[in-house]
Amino acid sequence: MAQASNGPGQLPTEAELTRAGLRLAVDGQVARITISRPERRNAMTGRTWTTLAHIGQTLPADVRIVVLAGEGDIFSAGIDLNMFTPEGVDGERSMVAGILDGTSTKADVEAYIAGLQEGFLWLRRPDLVTVAAVRGHAIGAGFQLALSCDLRILADDANFCMKEPALGLVPDLTGTKPLVDIVGVHRAVEICLTARRVGAQEARELGLAELVVPADELSAAVDDVVAALLATDAEAAAATKALLQQAAGNTLGEQAEAERRAQVGRLTALARTMSS
Ligand code: ACO
Repeated sequence: MAQASNGPGQLPTEAELTRAGLRLAVDGQVARITISRPERRNAMTGRTWTTLAHIGQTLPADVRIVVLAGEGDIFSAGIDLNMFTPEGVDGERSMVAGILDGTSTKADVEAYIAGLQEGFLWLRRPDLVTVAAVRGHAIGAGFQLALSCDLRILADDANFCMKEPALGLVPDLTGTKPLVDIVGVHRAVEICLTARRVGAQEARELGLAELVVPADELSAAVDDVVAALLATDAEAAAATKALLQQAAGNTLGEQAEAERRAQVGRLTALARTMSS
């Protein structure tokens, strides 16, 4: 039977969210997404990520902040390992079934992964500030999800682990670029190829966490950061995030030009406000 749907252009239904192991609460300018499969330590499936992509496509236009957290005392145990069994998870096709039975070409598998990556890519949108609130383990895909956010606020019991190479895989959910951007290629090689756990304090020292707080203060700390972010003008925030995002790939001259162009846009908007 077809699932009840909110229809195209609308947020996923409660049933779709539950099936994907997600909860969503939108309150004005803030959307809170919770990974919620506590019986599986918030392990995620392909459906989790396609539903995250759906959320990104259909968030109300006035949402400026997205907070991602895990249910309970863990962020996420990463991909549901049953996704690698021929049976898959709860009617969801496994990642290997098509390769095993020869029904999927390499291009099919790449297209499938591209669909999953959409669940992570939108978190970089300049009109949003995305915040990962991390308690406990953030393993594999969970680490990559946190890396996809603009800010990572960690409880002191949090740890990151890039487990994929230890399982014979590569991290493919858009986490390798932010990891290298933050810690550099040498530390990234060490973290990924040893699959060791990076605790909260080390994460702070490496720049993988903007803030580390006692676990029982995490939610209040996130609320404080959200309030501070909301106090900044939305259009200036979006223009500044866009500028910062291109800085690493630009020469100084290109970046100076981008700053001028963005500022002309801001000054024009300010002048309009003054004359109206
Ligand atoms: N996929 C499926 N089920 C999982 C996963 C997972 N990733 N992680 C935990 N579970 C299940 C366990 O099988 C167990 O189920 P059961 O109660 O039916 O036996 C239940 O969740 C509780 O797990 P425990 O291991 O008992 O919980 P514990 O708190 O001791 O450990 C931890 C938590 C460290 C997260 C551990 O479960 C673990 O290492 N999980 C696997 C992590 C992993 O390898 N993830 C994949 C990374 S690669 C990627 O994400 C692409």
